[in-house]
Amino acid sequence: MGPPSAATSSRKTIWITGASTGIGRELALSYAYDGHRVAVSARSAGKLSELEALSSNITAFPVDVTDTGAVAATVATIESTMGPIDLAILNAGVWHAMTASRYDLGKVKTSMDVNYFGVTNALDPVMKAMIARGRGHLAIVASVAGYRGLPKGAAYAPTKAALISLAESLYADLKIKGVKMTVINPGFIATPMTEANTFPMPFIVSTETAVKAIRKGLDSGRFEIVFPGRMAVLMKTLRLLPYRIFFLANGAIAKREPPPKDKA
Ligand SMILES: NC(=O)c1ccc[n+]([C@@H]2O[C@H](COP(=O)([O-])OP(=O)(O)OC[C@H]3O[C@@H](n4cnc5c(N)ncnc54)[C@H](OP(=O)(O)O)[C@@H]3O)[C@@H](O)[C@H]2O)c1
Repeated sequence: MGPPSAATSSRKTIWITGASTGIGRELALSYAYDGHRVAVSARSAGKLSELEALSSNITAFPVDVTDTGAVAATVATIESTMGPIDLAILNAGVWHAMTASRYDLGKVKTSMDVNYFGVTNALDPVMKAMIARGRGHLAIVASVAGYRGLPKGAAYAPTKAALISLAESLYADLKIKGVKMTVINPGFIATPMTEANTFPMPFIVSTETAVKAIRKGLDSGRFEIVFPGRMAVLMKTLRLLPYRIFFLANGAIAKREPPPKDKA
């Protein structure tokens, strides 16, 4: 990440959830170094304070995205202290590798609570405020894992499929109201989330590469940001396959992989 640069003339107020580590943290620094005001949220208050110390443009608002009331209160506090949110990047998420033989209902529910309801908890106040103002940009971080169910995805993939569907469902309505909706579907990115993975992660990219792709995509205003390109082609092709062929590939992956190790 480069050194701080001069503030831009079009200074935005940006809220990023899941900003204590990984993609969210890198995005926060990138936007802050370009002069934007960035509100950062996650549960780890200590990590957010460390991030805050790296730029006067970053302000920490620790919150658990599964707490509906606390998320609404956080949005109200951000808007009253930093101004209307121009861009909300709803990025907080958890990943638990899960196969049929290791099905864990608790982790299934946590995954949906954080990844899906965590986003809807944030959307509720932010989207309503943006509609009332007739402007704003919502960005939901889903995943190419939401395109189709793959081995080990039993807890994670349904949450991301739901997010893609949510973004698609809201897009046209929001456009009429002057609010942009973007869904961000990354392939593998080297972050604390993927550190524990023992299986091959094709075309994995750094957080710096991810931030460039995300910022470029958000600036373009297009609905979907999907990267890296080769992973996008692979996953979009899988999405087109009829079940008979799709499950041949799927079955081969399931047989080849060793048992999953969960990230705590
Ligand atoms: N890395 C990849 O390969 C990849 C690929 C596709 C999509 N994604 C998605 O990208 C997003 C960011 O992931 P990452 O790779 O940057 O992983 P990461 O480094 O593990 O970051 C996850 C972030 O979510 C926060 N979080 C988790 N539970 C939370 C909760 N209940 N309330 C508030 N914040 C919570 C974490 O902070 P605290 O623990 O401090 O709360 C952390 O800041 C996720 O939605 C992930 O599914 C990642």
